[in-house]
Amino acid sequence: MNVLAIIQKKRDGEILAPEEINYFIKNYHDGVIPDYQAAAFLMAIYFQGMDSGETAALTKAMVNSGETLDFSFLNRPVADKHSTGGVGDKTTLILLPLLAACGVTVAKMSGRGLGFTGGTIDKLSCIPGFRTELSRSQFFEQVRSLGFAITGQSAEMTPADGMLYALRDVTATVDCIPLIASSVMSKKIAAGAQYIVLDVKAGSGAFMRDEQLARRLAEEMVAIGHALGRKTVALITAMDQPLGFAVGNHLEVLEAIATLKGEGPSDLTMLTIELGAELLVVCGLAKELTKAREKLAASLRNGSALAMFRRLVAAQGGNPSVLEEPQKLGSPAYTAVLRSTQKGTVAGLDARAVGIAAMLLGAGREKKGDAIDLTAGIYLHKKIGDSLQKGDILAELFTSSADRLAIAQEKLAAAYLIGEAPKESCPLLLGRVG
Ligand code: URA
Repeated sequence: MNVLAIIQKKRDGEILAPEEINYFIKNYHDGVIPDYQAAAFLMAIYFQGMDSGETAALTKAMVNSGETLDFSFLNRPVADKHSTGGVGDKTTLILLPLLAACGVTVAKMSGRGLGFTGGTIDKLSCIPGFRTELSRSQFFEQVRSLGFAITGQSAEMTPADGMLYALRDVTATVDCIPLIASSVMSKKIAAGAQYIVLDVKAGSGAFMRDEQLARRLAEEMVAIGHALGRKTVALITAMDQPLGFAVGNHLEVLEAIATLKGEGPSDLTMLTIELGAELLVVCGLAKELTKAREKLAASLRNGSALAMFRRLVAAQGGNPSVLEEPQKLGSPAYTAVLRSTQKGTVAGLDARAVGIAAMLLGAGREKKGDAIDLTAGIYLHKKIGDSLQKGDILAELFTSSADRLAIAQEKLAAAYLIGEAPKESCPLLLGRVG
């Protein structure tokens, strides 16, 4: 096969055969194809797109570039959940124990936060002693014995995706639906899940701001899942304002624990139950969504999901007493409050701006590898639709560095739009693909 001919074919808008895609990815991974040809290939895909057969072939080639996990010996449904990322999104911390309490096995690999979006591994790092990097054998053993485990993304899995993602980052080819869909799905498939639920976010705090684009991404990811034999369903959910009230690692763990105790914000609780219900149905553990929701709500009410979270923390070396004594998660040195300067209603709350304000407080990293302040963050007292008096507290800010407060406060103030009540309610669930 000829590399140049493959690039030309894609450049001219033709459909590539699976063998051509496989050849390209294998040889790029092996170092035979140089970065400049891979960059041209990516740009050709960016402009010409890929059909569903090509996207599935690309995903498969990236899965085959590294190690894969196989949990079929367990003879139980093994599931995974993926969110395209947002602000205040701590659903994984609640959903995994909730699913485990309902009999779904979950082998989860998660990432760290970048920019204005958070990452599950950073959140779990707040729990004293919690091991976020499990070896392959530790991961397998915990999935087998406890029914779920969570660890950082393994470098041995989908290495071709890692190489291509780094190249996309410097060639303006990140925001390309077939490339995003295959990148995300390759990691899910390599990690061994047979059932996958995707939370594709749309809005200012999402990777995809536009709802139509988010829907297209959801459709492509679901199509890849089905083409590669994984039962996959996606919810498209709003990320115009943060999810829940807490933004920032330590605050989000506190909010997740409160939600597992049945005392969480309604939007967060509802979304977690909806994602869980989709999985219970595709796994065959509930006949219909209504029954699945009831089962999940009961596991929150009767404490079995919270008990599963306690077992997860203990199994991964963390101190489970944080569930009763949240002060053990640490506390920030400095706080400030943001007050409303006028009477009215919160008409808008820009999730991206809140995420950036939290990052400025130290909760997020501007570039990969930056250190973060786990206790930094924002607690929102007012969200869209809430009415206000002049002087009411809009939000609290937390940080370990006093000199970060002023700039973050300014950014957060600009995130709030105070005016008339929005004419229409803002639904959280925007659509479903499955
Ligand atoms: N996340 C991924 O894993 N891959 C992408 O391409 C974009 C976001």
